[in-house]
Amino acid sequence: MSALLEVSDLNKHFGGLHAVKNVALSVERGEIVGVLGPNGAGKTTLYNLLTGFIAPDAGARITFEGRSLLGLAPHRIARLGISRTFQLCRPFVGMSVLENVIVGALGSELGRGTDLDALAQALLGRVGLTGKEQVPVEVLSYGDQRRLEIARALAAKPKLLLLDEPFAGLGSGEIEDLSMLIRQVHADEGLTVILIEHKLREFMRLVGRVIALDFGEVIAQGSPEDIVRHPAVIEAYIGRGNEVETEPTHAA
Ligand SMILES: Nc1ncnc2c1ncn2[C@@H]1O[C@H](COP(=O)(O)OP(=O)(O)O)[C@@H](O)[C@H]1O
Ligand SMILES: [Mg+2]
Repeated sequence: MSALLEVSDLNKHFGGLHAVKNVALSVERGEIVGVLGPNGAGKTTLYNLLTGFIAPDAGARITFEGRSLLGLAPHRIARLGISRTFQLCRPFVGMSVLENVIVGALGSELGRGTDLDALAQALLGRVGLTGKEQVPVEVLSYGDQRRLEIARALAAKPKLLLLDEPFAGLGSGEIEDLSMLIRQVHADEGLTVILIEHKLREFMRLVGRVIALDFGEVIAQGSPEDIVRHPAVIEAYIGRGNEVETEPTHAA
C-alpha cells in the first residue's frame, strides 16, 4: 500500500528565491513526523504547498491517499482530510471559543445530522478548554489560543494534521501539556501528524522521525537521536550560532 502522503520534485520560487528545493518526502499512516529547520528554511512554505494555499513550480507531485492534490483549492484539500494550524494563531475574532470550533467543522464532510455543538464541546474538553466555551476568543491566553487552534483543526476530522510551530511562545509546562495532547490525539484516533519546529529539543520525545530542511532542501532524515548528531544539521544550527539542543527560549 502506498504512503498516506507522497511528495516529489517539489519546488517553489518566489522571484529569485528558491524557497523549496527538490523536496521529496513520504509519510506513512499513523506516523508523527517532525519538520525541523532554521527560520526561513521553507517549512511554512512546504505546508502552504501541501494545503493548496500556494501552487508549486511545474513538475511537482503531491499525492494524498494515492490521489493528486495538485490544482486543488485549500477547502477541497481540507475536505480530503488534511487540517492545519497556523504559525500565528488565526482565530475568528468576534466569535466565541465554541463558535470558532464549530466553524472548523463546517468545511468537513460531517453528516447533516451531526450535532456540531456537542462535537465542539467534546473537542474543547479534549484540549482542556472546558468552561471557556462562551468566552470571546480575543481574551484567551496565548497558550489557550494554541489549544483552540488544535480543537478547530480536529473539528474537521482530519486524517493528517499539520501543526506549524505549535510550541512557539509557550513556557515549558505548556509545551509538556501540548505535547501530551498531541500524543493523545495521535493515539486515540490513529491520526497522522506532521509538526514543524525550529528547535530540536521540543521534538525529541514526541516525533518518531525528523525531516531536516535548510535553505529549502531536505538535508537529513532520521530518528531525533540520529538527527542531533547529523553533521549537516549541526552545521545548519551550530555553524550559524543557532541552537540544536540548548534550553529553549520562550517569550514571557
Ligand atoms: N509569499 C511569499 N513571497 C515571497 N517570499 C516568501 C513568501 N513566503 C515565504 N517567503 C520566503 O521564503 C523563505 C521561506 O519562508 P518560510 O517557509 O516562511 O520559512 P520557515 O517557515 O521555515 O521559517 C523565506 O526566505 C521567506 O521570506
Ligand atoms: Mg514558518
